[in-house]
Amino acid sequence: MKKFNVYVTRLIPVEGLTLLRETCNVEINPEDRPLSREELLKNVKGRDGVISLLTDRIDGEVMDTAKGIRGFANYAVGFDNLDVKAATARKLPLSNTPGVLTLATAEMAWTLLFAVARHLIESEKIMRSGTWPGWGPMQFIGGDVTGKTLGIVGAGRIGTAMALMSKGFAMKVLYTDEVANTVLEKELGAKKVSFEELLRESDFVSVHVPLMPSTRHLFNAKVFAMMKPSAYLINTARGPVINEAELVEALRKNVIAGAALDVYEFEPKMVAGLAELANVVIAPHTASATKSSRAGMSVKAAKNLLAMLKGERPPDCLNPEIYE
Ligand code: DGY
Repeated sequence: MKKFNVYVTRLIPVEGLTLLRETCNVEINPEDRPLSREELLKNVKGRDGVISLLTDRIDGEVMDTAKGIRGFANYAVGFDNLDVKAATARKLPLSNTPGVLTLATAEMAWTLLFAVARHLIESEKIMRSGTWPGWGPMQFIGGDVTGKTLGIVGAGRIGTAMALMSKGFAMKVLYTDEVANTVLEKELGAKKVSFEELLRESDFVSVHVPLMPSTRHLFNAKVFAMMKPSAYLINTARGPVINEAELVEALRKNVIAGAALDVYEFEPKMVAGLAELANVVIAPHTASATKSSRAGMSVKAAKNLLAMLKGERPPDCLNPEIYE
């Protein structure tokens, strides 16, 4: 039987690749870096299917260049890099990897929350520099967590998981979402509130909305001014949800106490000034980077692609209407 011809735009964990290799010839970008636009266009040509990453812009041009392709399986839960409309118009299936990175991402949001609240990075720096003068009553005094108010912006899978993890810290939980989250309300007595109320009341604001036209720059100078001066902002969702230049200004002027970021508006770049601030924690988009989460993403992407190759609807289809 002829094997399918599959391209993977960057090396991913072996679990999914092993599945693909049963029925496909799999070629992988040999370089440990994102493909340039030219390389992407060249390498999708003549393929039956592609596993793409969040760093690949899969738009109409790529789809048309990949003439005859059966679909693109994104190795990420976020899919703002995919032009779903263009794919639907071409009856091409697209998929993502929901579920398997929920806990890892929620755990990272907590990691960032504690790191920024307790000045962990600055404290670590002084230890490594060998300049710590010894214990001091006024050193690195941070924000309290237990009993404080956690504001979850976007109570989907990851926002919900993060909120549920607050149980041990007896936090009051507020959230915004289009629909009521009965799990959070039942388990935590969480309250669905307006965005403005959440900003005004929360000690920690954690961002969990997808990037869409309506969420681009949802956080900007006006919004920071509505937050408590003692509040911290945590972002494990997508960088452009925050106006990063305005965040730098807000942090410089202590409009808010701090921010902890895993994602950036212009990845892999950061806006000028961000990296110099002491009241930020900056991680390199690693929220899903745990062994089980990344293996799960690999398997999901592979299973989705295998279904597309067989002409079946993939389990995590982003445009199911093409099968109607
Ligand atoms: C995603 O899946 O969308 C994360 O940003 C990377 O794992």
